[in-house]
Amino acid sequence: MEIIDNIHEMQSRSEALKMAGHSVALVPTMGFFHEGHLELMRVGKIHADDLVVSIFVNPMQFGPSEDYAEYPRDMDSDLEKAERVGTGIVFCPTAEQMYPDGFQTKIGAEKLSGRLCGISRPGHFDGVLTVVAKLFHITKPHLAIFGQKDYQQLTIISRMVKDLNMDIRIVGVPVVREPDGIAMSSRNSYLSPDERKSALCMKQSLDLAGEMYARGERRVPEMRAALERIILDQPFTEIDYVSFCHPTTLEEVEVIDGETVLALAVMVGKTRLIDNCIIAKGQ
Ligand code: PAJ
Repeated sequence: MEIIDNIHEMQSRSEALKMAGHSVALVPTMGFFHEGHLELMRVGKIHADDLVVSIFVNPMQFGPSEDYAEYPRDMDSDLEKAERVGTGIVFCPTAEQMYPDGFQTKIGAEKLSGRLCGISRPGHFDGVLTVVAKLFHITKPHLAIFGQKDYQQLTIISRMVKDLNMDIRIVGVPVVREPDGIAMSSRNSYLSPDERKSALCMKQSLDLAGEMYARGERRVPEMRAALERIILDQPFTEIDYVSFCHPTTLEEVEVIDGETVLALAVMVGKTRLIDNCIIAKGQ
């Protein structure tokens, strides 16, 4: 496995791969790998000749009071895991290279960035879109793999690729969960054992929504109230949002009459967790 930390070297390496007729898949990450990240890499390997994994904790997507400094990092373990799933190249630039003095260009999505997580994390999605666009220009992939765990992120990136005519196929991978149902996340490492028990309410509320839908419930206010009860019954929890929204515009719906995303953001202690599922899939 090659480890490249220089932007120009990565660009020449990708160019050479493309010139040799290889297809390239990119899995962008912020490291501290768990099975969710590794699943994205496995999918990347299936779809392309060469797999590039980027590891970069992107300062631009963290707010001033967020956890950029504390965000968990473990490069040695990440490299070992990436190699084990057959990654060809790991690209791990420094923040100084990615954002040199004078940097000032941003990408934003007018409407999608302001919904769901964008309300409590202003500027977050500008940071995500900007770094992802930079990573696309540096690694020049044919396709890029993202997790449905970050549903809004996947939607906004798909929109950017369409709007800016980027010739890159975006592949979404379903949420990978721990055996007890909790969605895997690097931020789960912040949870105390008691907080982790409370965090189970997120998957339980997604499941309850599925059951209510199966029993014929279509009214969002009724479903939201039941879900909020499950979440707030647990200690340490505070709801940021329980949103039922359209799968591509992310506009809130009041009645489920077609495919709908149920997205949750909950503070468990000081840790902000997100999860989601799709209700009425394929309708
Ligand atoms: P990070 O949180 O490291 O996640 C990297 C990728 O792994 C994202 O596409 C995310 O959706 C996916 N992922 C995380 N947990 C997952 C799970 N349990 N199941 C499936 N996929 C999962 O998301 C980011 O980094 C950054 O915002 C990034 C896109 C790299 C831009 O900085």
